[in-house]
Amino acid sequence: MLDLLLLNASLPDGRTGMSVAVQDGRIVQVAPGLQAPAVETVDAQGQLLSAAFVDAHFHMDSALSYGQPRVNASGTLLEGIALWGELKPQLTQEHVMNRALAYCDWAVARGLLAIRSHVDVSDPSLLAVQALLEVKRRVAPYLDLQLVAFPQDGLLRSPGALDNLRRALALGVDVVGGIPHFERTMAQGAESVRLLCELAAEQGRLIDMHCDESDDPLSRHVEVLASETQRLGLQGRVTGSHLTSMHSMDNYYVSKLIPLMAEAGLGVVANPLINITLQGRHDSYPKRRGMTRVPELLAAGITVAFGHDCVMDPWYPLGSADLLEAAHMGLHVAQMTGQAAMRQCYDAVTTNPARLLHLERYGLEAGCNADLVLLQARDPVEAIRLRATRLKVWRRGRLVAETAPSSARLHLPGRPGQVDFRT
Ligand code: FE2
Repeated sequence: MLDLLLLNASLPDGRTGMSVAVQDGRIVQVAPGLQAPAVETVDAQGQLLSAAFVDAHFHMDSALSYGQPRVNASGTLLEGIALWGELKPQLTQEHVMNRALAYCDWAVARGLLAIRSHVDVSDPSLLAVQALLEVKRRVAPYLDLQLVAFPQDGLLRSPGALDNLRRALALGVDVVGGIPHFERTMAQGAESVRLLCELAAEQGRLIDMHCDESDDPLSRHVEVLASETQRLGLQGRVTGSHLTSMHSMDNYYVSKLIPLMAEAGLGVVANPLINITLQGRHDSYPKRRGMTRVPELLAAGITVAFGHDCVMDPWYPLGSADLLEAAHMGLHVAQMTGQAAMRQCYDAVTTNPARLLHLERYGLEAGCNADLVLLQARDPVEAIRLRATRLKVWRRGRLVAETAPSSARLHLPGRPGQVDFRT
């Protein structure tokens, strides 16, 4: 007997009328019109069944701290970093854990079951690291939390940061992070990239660096990250996050840079909600959008994900763990309105981030984990358009969240009715 049988589902690749059979937490068969006894059978009624959403870039240590101790008045990245510096001395392990656990509940309700979160290692007590490692243990039954050791105040700029980062890795943090554009000079930024890539190579770690998160057209750390990846044989293991300076770079230089990134097998995470609000703040008009060159990177064969980055923290006052919101914003900012491009935006919050996180058994094939979400939409484009309701969310085949279908009841003169915004 199967544990779960889903019938009449539409899949993100365009197949319709599909059945998905689940046993012992894994998908065992995907085929049209399956019939078999199951503990639970769900008729998807032609709606979209997707592998769960994946967020490739988040900051869980600061999430849901909005307004503490004050709000970001200028709205800039640098004031956000300063504000986080004011909040840090007041943090307790319990405070960080409670906010993080609350966010993980939001994530599950939104069908977001894997998150790569950076965790600030600048504080020698590693309080946030300890808190998020405990959160990772607690949420493991329902959410994959991958942690990145992130030297927020600069690896070379902040005394003891390299030692803190090494200790965080020893405690169980998974991935090596960095922030080269925040070092004192371009040369020190490059030096930090070299040190961090060598450390990751030594320890067999993945790398995910905040890189060139600025409007500076002359920032050059992506180039160094690609070059170090190549030199150390780390192809496919390194992600550059943000890369917003690429928006402002000279086109000729970018025509050299993107092939270097592709050659190094660099992954990219753009964070559209944050990039569009934090970048271009020093511009009058025209104001730059500040998101990296997503369609051009995709065209070069580079894996690009859209991350959420922040929810209600010193850098961003909004958000609700909805990766479809990130996809929706990314689609607009990058002007990816063609049919194929809109589907790529869906991949940017599902399969692409799963690849960057090296998630095992992710997907909608036999043998994959049954981490699934049923949406109130018929296809990925409709899901993005409506930021569709997550009707049901399963983790390893077990139902972990449900939301009632969304619809409005009309009370118009002479013709009552109902709309759910689908044509
Ligand atoms: Fe970030």
